[in-house]
Amino acid sequence: MPVPRIRHALPEVRWPTEEEAARSLWFSPIRLGRTLVAEQRTWVPAMVPWRATEEGFVTPGVLDWYGRFARGRPGVLVVEATGIRDIPSGPLLRVGHDRFLPGLRDLVERVRRESGGRTRLLLQIIDFLAIRRRPEPAKFFRRFLAVDGNLRRRFSEAAGEPRWKDAPEADVREALFAALRDLQERTLAPREIESLDFGHRERVTDTHLPHVRDLPRVLPGLFADAADRARRAGFDGAELHFAHAYTMASFLSPLNTREDGYGGPRENRVRLPLEVLAAVRGRVGSEYCVGIRYLGDEVIAEGFRVEDAAWYGVQFAKQGADYLSISKGGKFEDARQPEIGEAAYPYTGESGRECMPTVHSDERGPFGRNVPLAAAVRRAVREAGLETPVVTSGGIHSFEQAEGILRRGEADAVAAARQSLADPDWFLKVRLGRGAEVRRCVFTNYCEGLDQKHRQVTCKLWDRAFDRADPSVALASDGRRRLVAPEWKNRPRAANP
Ligand SMILES: Cc1cc2nc3c(=O)[nH]c(=O)nc-3n(C[C@H](O)[C@H](O)[C@H](O)COP(=O)(O)O)c2cc1C
Ligand code: SF4
Repeated sequence: MPVPRIRHALPEVRWPTEEEAARSLWFSPIRLGRTLVAEQRTWVPAMVPWRATEEGFVTPGVLDWYGRFARGRPGVLVVEATGIRDIPSGPLLRVGHDRFLPGLRDLVERVRRESGGRTRLLLQIIDFLAIRRRPEPAKFFRRFLAVDGNLRRRFSEAAGEPRWKDAPEADVREALFAALRDLQERTLAPREIESLDFGHRERVTDTHLPHVRDLPRVLPGLFADAADRARRAGFDGAELHFAHAYTMASFLSPLNTREDGYGGPRENRVRLPLEVLAAVRGRVGSEYCVGIRYLGDEVIAEGFRVEDAAWYGVQFAKQGADYLSISKGGKFEDARQPEIGEAAYPYTGESGRECMPTVHSDERGPFGRNVPLAAAVRRAVREAGLETPVVTSGGIHSFEQAEGILRRGEADAVAAARQSLADPDWFLKVRLGRGAEVRRCVFTNYCEGLDQKHRQVTCKLWDRAFDRADPSVALASDGRRRLVAPEWKNRPRAANP
């Protein structure tokens, strides 16, 4: 039964004075591993802005995006999911080759400069499997569908016409294309129907494909190389992306039924993630910060829940992860059907709503709704005698909320993605006792809609008041939106780098 949706109002907030903020936990330092210390427990988690070149290089737009966050001086800023392979992947950052290093060094330099050296910069590194756009049905039946003996047999039986067993292939394709949906469904395998309706998507269980079978052999080295490049580019650490809809998260999922020792029971499912962590650690050494972002709950049917997440957290912590950043959901399995010509987007179903909750929510509302997951992971890690910091995110919008989470021991750092997008200066404003000037996120996901369409991400609040004729305002490629958050007009001089 669908969950009734309520439109929640933005809660009233009370902002702290400068003295209160100075005494707070949120603005107190945190150690992330052996050597890295962040000046504050404020955190901007990874957000893809779609500003890299088609070849995955840093652009001036990427520099402006991260530079703008750095001006608000968060304790930690995590750079978007950056691909570890040297393969084309559209305008997403890549770190799969040394030729990406100069651009990434510029990015590190820009964040250092704009934050006055106050913000610690981490690079989130990711692997993902292939996903195709939803095809035109004609194209699917005429080109993509594999017509073999099995398909011919099923078609003959379903249609009650033996001639399809040896009819010319082109005729089989045309007949299936013209067939009623019911006959198509009785003929095609479930994965083929999925490819027709959603676009073909590889899974970690496709071990008949050599490159999928070889993932356990290949990924530790690729992640290690990528983390080492992050180190050489000057990042303060690397974050292994084991969350949402991507390869490593799929290994952790109970849907991973691989039979090569890397699927099935959770001890097997965590094996590759631990091997990746060990390979990364072996390459970058024990001093370099290596964190993990993963899910506290997959949300999807038959996905893992918080009990497994807590157990995973203990394994990662034992193996030397320097922090655990807990997210939720964001899976392909329950994603909405895309339009023809578009790819499925893993934040459109129930699991997506849990990942980036909006004000249209159930009774609990979107604000801090994922905190109990981080709290459970943290409890398990502490009970195992480990001090690994745990980061929470999801609907964080105020000082009191973040401070309460830290005081209650539910997390060690509190991250805000969309609130930081709406107002990249908000940490600084709160720290200086100027919270009343914060531009508050309204949590309706205009930004996420742009991400879904692979368009340059901006916040709708940036466009409220600006003079479109002002030549100093950088506009998005559609010429209609501000590309960078407006400057804080009353920014104190002393807060400049
Ligand atoms: C535009 C956009 C892009 C995102 N890209 C990433 C990403 O690259 N990696 C990641 O782990 N999470 C990504 N997220 C999820 C956020 O890091 C965060 O977990 C989520 O937005 C919930 O936090 P919030 O309520 O503070 O926004 C993205 C979120 C948004 C809005
Ligand atoms: S676009 Fe909407 S949800 Fe996204 S940051 Fe801006 S106000 Fe928040």
